[in-house]
Amino acid sequence: MFGLFKKKKTLPTFAPLVTDMHCHLLPLVDDGSKSLEESLEVMEAMKAVGFEQIRLTPHFNYPRFPNKADDIKERYKNFCAEVEANKGDRQIPKMTSVTGEFQVGDGFMDYFESGQLLTYKFTDPKRGSEKGLLLIEFSLHQKRMGLEDIVFKLQMEGYDIIIAHPERYPYYDSHSEELEQFKEQGIYLQANILSLDGFYGEASQRKAYDYIENGWVEFLGTDMHNVMYAEALRHASTNRKIIQLLEKTEFENKNLVI
Ligand SMILES: [Fe+2]
Repeated sequence: MFGLFKKKKTLPTFAPLVTDMHCHLLPLVDDGSKSLEESLEVMEAMKAVGFEQIRLTPHFNYPRFPNKADDIKERYKNFCAEVEANKGDRQIPKMTSVTGEFQVGDGFMDYFESGQLLTYKFTDPKRGSEKGLLLIEFSLHQKRMGLEDIVFKLQMEGYDIIIAHPERYPYYDSHSEELEQFKEQGIYLQANILSLDGFYGEASQRKAYDYIENGWVEFLGTDMHNVMYAEALRHASTNRKIIQLLEKTEFENKNLVI
């Protein structure tokens, strides 16, 4: 009887997503975290807003961040051991694996040709291709010539493609025909949670909501880089509009293999 009056326990805002599939918390390999301590602090914030699992996705972006797949995997192994040894009482999400955020720019085809593209998979093996899901990003300034051809080639080679934060590219508008074409080709889009809270400005914010409204966005990512982003994530977790969006929209994050 008394149970009827018990207050319903509210889950943290991002709990329905379960997994974050885009963050830069492997220290000192890109413009993300600068130390183990910083990564732990950001991970603690991610757990507090509802993430149970995280997948690290360092930049592979030649020549700015010319990471190599084997080196990143080795660093990730060492990082996991350091996190275990140093996390103490902190509540943090489970780290499930390392892949990458590959920029389609100079050097991208070298990654492709040398078999260094690291991918995710869906929990349901019947969904998606043998080679898995590849997270790619484009230039934040200027659209690269021949972009569509490269994306199409990747698909033909058996990769499923997720385009990171399309709302951040100034050359795509809310009803971009190019993005619509990508959607018709079965390409996935991942919007940044912080875009929804205005972190990258008004245009990105508007487009992030518009793309979700268009039914184009399958994944949400935190794109965490450092403690400043963690603070912004805490802020986003209290945004009513984001809370309501998460309540009414299903995303695919939870269906990624851990
Ligand atoms: Fe990123």
